[in-house]
Order: sequence, then structure tokens, then C-alpha cells
Amino acid sequence: MKNDSLTIFEKSREGRSSFSISKSKIDNIELSNIPAKYLRDQKARLPEVSERDLVSHYVKLSNKNMHVDANFYPLGSCTMKYNPKINEDIAACESFKKMHPLQSDDDLQGILKLIYEFEEFLCDLIGFDVMTLHPAAGAHGEMTALMMAKKYFESKGDEGRHIILVPDSSHGTNPSSAFMCGFDKVVTVKSDENGEIDINDLKEKCSKEVACLMVTNPNTLGIFETRITDIAKIVHDNGALLYGDGANMNALMGITRPGDMGFDFMHLNLHKTFSAPHGGGGPGSGPVGVKEFLKQFLPKPVIVKNKNRFSFKDDQCNTIGAVRAFYGNLSVIVKAFCYIKSLGKKELKRSSMMAVLNARYLYAKLKNIFPVPYDKPCLHEFVMSIKPNDNGVHTVDLAKALIDFGIHPPTVYFPLIVREAIMIEPTETESIETLDDFISIMESIAQDIEKDPKKIKDAPKTTPVMRLDEVGAARKPIVNWFDIETE
Ligand SMILES: Cc1ncc(COP(=O)(O)O)c(C=O)c1O
Repeated sequence: MKNDSLTIFEKSREGRSSFSISKSKIDNIELSNIPAKYLRDQKARLPEVSERDLVSHYVKLSNKNMHVDANFYPLGSCTMKYNPKINEDIAACESFKKMHPLQSDDDLQGILKLIYEFEEFLCDLIGFDVMTLHPAAGAHGEMTALMMAKKYFESKGDEGRHIILVPDSSHGTNPSSAFMCGFDKVVTVKSDENGEIDINDLKEKCSKEVACLMVTNPNTLGIFETRITDIAKIVHDNGALLYGDGANMNALMGITRPGDMGFDFMHLNLHKTFSAPHGGGGPGSGPVGVKEFLKQFLPKPVIVKNKNRFSFKDDQCNTIGAVRAFYGNLSVIVKAFCYIKSLGKKELKRSSMMAVLNARYLYAKLKNIFPVPYDKPCLHEFVMSIKPNDNGVHTVDLAKALIDFGIHPPTVYFPLIVREAIMIEPTETESIETLDDFISIMESIAQDIEKDPKKIKDAPKTTPVMRLDEVGAARKPIVNWFDIETE
């Protein structure tokens, strides 16, 4: 229907309305109480539509969206697994929703117990002594951790350590966090021919000026750093700290513990591994676990238990201070807590094993069709690419072509060390049927790349708009209908 393709502004007809407020009620509002600078000087330009058209507008918009509840979403590095709805329901309970952080500790015993037990569970799962749930994202966890590292060296009078080492496969947030925390130099450590940290390069770059090496394990190629204990020794022999970017913990839950590999501190991404929804900049949580010797530097407040009573404590002598208001993103914490409680440690381990199995299944089938940079078994994700000069088709075209099959494009052009990279992470929540469908779709796209490259370069065809000017959309977004009219 022609009407279907119109925006809500184009559907607007003067005088139509979804609801009405009696004029007398409006007249009763005392406008003089509102400072003049907050009053409109002209009527808001809102679409005038019936309730029926309004509902239809929002339902159709939601159907245009790709999301984990409807689509296969193999977004490498981001762990977009299906999130059980029961976690949402529990987090939305009145008792959680109506809680206020300024209530007294006595009023908050239930939630303080939940947080305390959750911290204990996470410590045990990843092998650390204490945990903070303050940080609101993975990157915020990194920043919190590096602030602690800074304070740690200051407290020892070891103040010449101004360098942070990161592998060349690292996530962009790692070097950014280092600069944010005032370390003035980030030095890249090369990967070797197996996609792991090059030990010789690390030895060369590790010095008394280095504060910390940040390692993601498995790394962003989906490859396990097999020499992690040697890496830890090199770093520690130089007096530096080993930081774990634990965003890829979905590969390891219940199987092995980063704390036992030699990491001194590490963040987790609850909004990835522990099944709290994320995306679109929604609330996240990046808890940081530390070994005992770093405990005194944790952000304040911490939660303590004294004879079955829980309370906030904010007088640790060497704390880095507060890194956010109150105590973490509570709804994300509750969702993740429900997830680990409903699965238990044994099933968490099975989730990680299934995540790895699903990725290896796809890898085994797809590596015959698309080139892989490191031909070795992956963990929960893997990276492949497009053959050079494939009829002018690039990774971005392959990603766009997947949209026409109802698949969210995987992460592309990351990690930076792989040319035309495409990074696939199916997660444990997808069935073998979905994976097989994906394989057939990738096979058919590979054939089109050879025989009908224009079809791939013209994709997507099924979306309201085709190729956007992505730089323009990011730098100069036009999100207002009236701006479009005047463009
Ligand atoms: C390896 C890695 N490190 C860090 C981050 C940053 O996490 P966040 O997006 O929550 O800040 C991500 C996010 O995807 C990641 O994949």
C-alpha cells in the first residue's frame, strides 16, 4: 500500500488526533509558574494522526529493526546472544524498580545481599579475590582498572611507569582507556604467525617504564593465547601488571579462570557474557575483579558483610574514589544475576562449550569458501576475509548482502591486523538449523561474488534505504524530519 511507505509526518492531517485533553484542563495550567525561557514561542510541529495510525507507525518501525529476538546476529566481539525473558521480568519487578539508592542500608538488605553474592560468584568463576560492580561498560571497567594501576604504582613510589602495552589485535577501547587515565604512551606488541602475542616482541618492549600489558584472551581473532603464563612472567619480572580484557569470557566460563593464568585484574562485560541485552548504547556493566594486593585501590563504596548484615563502606585508604554515581547499573546486575542463578556453574560451562562448538562448526564449513588468516581451531568466534580482487567486492558488500537474508551483518574491518576482516560470533543460543541456513546463505553469496558481483555490490535491496553515507551519518546525523525538509 502506498500509504505504508509514508513517514508519520507525511501522514499527518490537520485536526486529526490520537487523544484529546479538555480545553478547560489546559487553560487551568498556570503558565506563569514556568520561566519564560522554557516556554515555546510557537506550537510544536508534531504529526497529527489517529491512534490507529500512531500504533501502526511504531509497530512497523519495530519490525524494520534487526534484533536478537528476531534475527541471527553473529556480531563478532559483541556476543549478541539471545537473552532469556525471565531475566527481564525479574529485573522489572516492582521491588527492584522502586528501589532508591538513597534509601538506608537497612532498607536495602536484599539487594545488597544480591550484589555481594554476585560479586562472590564472579570472583570464583574468574579466579579473583574481590570485585567491583561500579563500571557501566567494558571500556569503563578498563578505565577503572587502569586508574587503580596508576594509584598502585604511585603508592609504591614507582612513578616512572608511563607506558601501556597492547597487542596489535586489541580492541580500540584498550589504548583509549590508557590515554584517558593519563598514561602518555601506548606501545603495540606484534602478533606472531599464529595470531598470538609475539613473545620476542613483548620481551623487547617490556621495560621498567611499562605499567601494564592489556591482554584479551581469547584474543579478538578468537584465538587462545596459549603462552599466557609465560606472558604473565615476562610482565611481572619487569614489575608491571597484567590486565585482562575479559570481554571474551563467553569462551571460557567454568572451563578455565583468568585469575589462575596470571592476570592481576580484569573486567567482564555483563551485557555480553552474562546475557543482559545491549546495543544502541543501552545500559551495560563492566565489573572489575582484582587480586588481593589491589583491593585497597577499588572504587568506593564497597559492600561489606558483617554477621549477615550488609552495608556500604567508603573509607578505604587508597581508593581511586567514585567512578560513577551510586553503585553500578542495577537492572543489568539483576539480569546477569538471574542468568547465572538459573544456569548454575555447570550450565555456564556448557554455554561456553556450545559457544565454541557453534563457532568451530561455522569455521570448519566456511573456511573452504572464504580465506582465513590463521588456520587453527577458534574459540567462540573467528575471523575470515574476502579473497583479494574478488570482482571489486569488499567485505562491506558481503555484510550488506547478508541484510537481504535477514541476518545482522557481522563485525567488519576489525581486528585491524586482518585485511578485509569479517568477524563471526554465532554464540551458544543458535540452533544447528540456523547455522546451516547461514552456511548456505554464505555459499550463495560466495557464488554471486564470482558470477554476479553487481548483485552483491547493490545490496541491500530489502531495506527502506540502501547504502548510507556512513561517515556523514556518524558525523553529521540528520535525525529530525524538518531538517530533512530543509536539506
Ligand atoms: C574485546 C573487547 N574489549 C572491550 C570492549 C568494550 O566494551 P564496551 O562496549 O562495553 O565498552 C569490547 C566491546 O565489544 C570488546 O569486544
